[in-house]
Amino acid sequence: MRLTRETRTWLGGAIQETANPNRNSWAGTQEGCDLDRFAMIRITVDGNPDARTGYVCDIRQLDQLAQTVVRKKIEASNRSDACSLATLAFALQEAFIVVEKKTPEGTTLRSVELVLSPFTRLAIEPGDPPMLKLTQSFEFSASHRLAIPTLSDSENRELFGKCSNPEGHGHNYVFEITVAGEAGLPNGTLTDIGALDRIVREHVVDAFDHKNLNTQCPEFSDLNPTVENIAAVIFSRLKGKFDTSELDRVRVWETPKTSAEVTRDNLCS
Ligand code: NI
Repeated sequence: MRLTRETRTWLGGAIQETANPNRNSWAGTQEGCDLDRFAMIRITVDGNPDARTGYVCDIRQLDQLAQTVVRKKIEASNRSDACSLATLAFALQEAFIVVEKKTPEGTTLRSVELVLSPFTRLAIEPGDPPMLKLTQSFEFSASHRLAIPTLSDSENRELFGKCSNPEGHGHNYVFEITVAGEAGLPNGTLTDIGALDRIVREHVVDAFDHKNLNTQCPEFSDLNPTVENIAAVIFSRLKGKFDTSELDRVRVWETPKTSAEVTRDNLCS
């Protein structure tokens, strides 16, 4: 059983003691400092629910680790003049190592994640050394038609419903890219956010945005542009494009209800 606890908190300019380390307010606010930078910390553990309580662990223990270990390490790195994604990642890795030792009894730590904005998050997962993952979200708008060329319009309508409209139709696609690297300083191997942004824009957004996927994107000339195939095509377009990190995962939402995910472990050849 996997349990994730999200702690909503703040990153102030100075290390601040929190009166109640279990504090996890709805909006992460603290008294007197309501304009500090909002952040979320997610701790994920594996374990079996206790037969009596039904808990994998007491979530207050995870809140306490988030506030007293993760937030403090992040704030300490955030205070330095040389704060960068690399120093933040290194602080998160240090926090991960401490949290791993203090993980509630009977559980195994799976990840410590820092959500920096609705579009960017950093995570550390177990490994030797621990694996650092950076996830960034992007979007594009495009039209497509789902159809099998050898079938009639009515047969395609039967198979693909409204998505087989011969004139096509549009979606606002949202997709997340996760790259994996090492957090260690000074030789951390994580691609920086600017480079990630540039590479994804160049190889995916510029190629797909405001395009007809069937007719203007060569991969779909004889491949149905389903959300599954779009995820696989984005993965193959980006694989090997990051100098220092490895492409770990691509997730694409065609609508808020429908998404497909490809990881380097489940990629079909
Ligand atoms: Ni569609």
